[in-house]
Amino acid sequence: MKGLILSGGAGTRLRPITHTRAKQLVPIANKPILFYGIEDMAAADIHDIGIIIAPGTGDEIREAVGDGSRFGVEVTWILQDQPLGLAHCVLIARDFLGDDDFVMYLGDNMLEQGLRGFVERFERSRTHTLSPTLDGPRLAIPSAQILLAKVDDPRAFGVAEIGDDDEVVQLIEKPEDPPSDLALVGIYLFDASIHDAVAAIDPSPRGELEITDAIQWLIDDGRRVCHEVLEGWWIDTGKKDPLLECNRLVLDKLHRSVEGEVDDRSHVEGRVVVEPGAKLVNSTVRGPAVIGAGSVITDSHIGPYSSIAVDCVVTDSEIDNSVVLRRATINGIPRLTDSLVGRDTEIMRGNSRPRATRVMIGDHCNIEIE
Ligand code: TTP
Repeated sequence: MKGLILSGGAGTRLRPITHTRAKQLVPIANKPILFYGIEDMAAADIHDIGIIIAPGTGDEIREAVGDGSRFGVEVTWILQDQPLGLAHCVLIARDFLGDDDFVMYLGDNMLEQGLRGFVERFERSRTHTLSPTLDGPRLAIPSAQILLAKVDDPRAFGVAEIGDDDEVVQLIEKPEDPPSDLALVGIYLFDASIHDAVAAIDPSPRGELEITDAIQWLIDDGRRVCHEVLEGWWIDTGKKDPLLECNRLVLDKLHRSVEGEVDDRSHVEGRVVVEPGAKLVNSTVRGPAVIGAGSVITDSHIGPYSSIAVDCVVTDSEIDNSVVLRRATINGIPRLTDSLVGRDTEIMRGNSRPRATRVMIGDHCNIEIE
């Protein structure tokens, strides 16, 4: 079994962060989202991993991941010139994948339950199914296994229709009248027959080769596509609010570890990580929260569900439910909440007159002033 992680794409929904940075490297509890996916694969005994990257952000991802040895995996890099769709990623990964079964994982998705059980059940169903004879119209051995999650509004997702025999009979992209509340989660298992499917389909109206079309092609070709309904949470972190929610869920499992410097006027309450080299001066950190190495927090309050990355400077401010990326400076801000703050950003209270809000903001930013 091989792994294919999709870390290219345009990332338009997470601009401006993604103007300069791969969204898969945005940290959740101070660890890049992508690393959780690689660790999940390693934990499921998948050590041969192809990672799809885009020209603009690929180098940064390669540098962050390295050769994969620190995760116990071997990485093959696959450059996708343009974001032409999830099925296009399978098409260009053909040489790497060969005829092996593989798990495909969207590099900006995270799930609570891990991959191991999902992968094991697919492998078992492929080796233990009685025979590859026709079972009704379909082969007994599944060609694909998809993961589904119950969602409140299926109209925003790819939705699966499940037949009486518990098999997937149809996949519909963003249906107006959803046949179920089961949305496709960004993790798929395939055998080599998916290569015929991705070669056979045409681009959708939005110009992408859709993985839902490829899976539908397998079904229409009489192949068996089985499914599992996810236990635990699953989050597509490609937008700000889901990203903050994911940060909350991961921080909720944090183990307290205070290795940085905490002066005697500071308080660290609950499940808090203060990384080595971080410094708290006359400040309170109320968990769950993480303070990155090299960050200095002075005369401030860091509230629950905050992740402060490395080398940040927070002075005379209050922050909660926020993700602050590396080298950001926050000074004199009474209450910063529900926020995603990019790298090397400065937010401060100015003293110059006339009193006013003065900004230099990049494209596609979103600022809400109290
Ligand atoms: P999406 O979030 O569906 O697409 P996107 O990254 O282009 O983002 P946006 O919609 O905000 O513009 O992609 C899911 C994952 O798959 C993500 O990690 C990027 C990756 N991907 C590729 O590697 N190649 C592609 O052609 C596409 C569409 C996505």
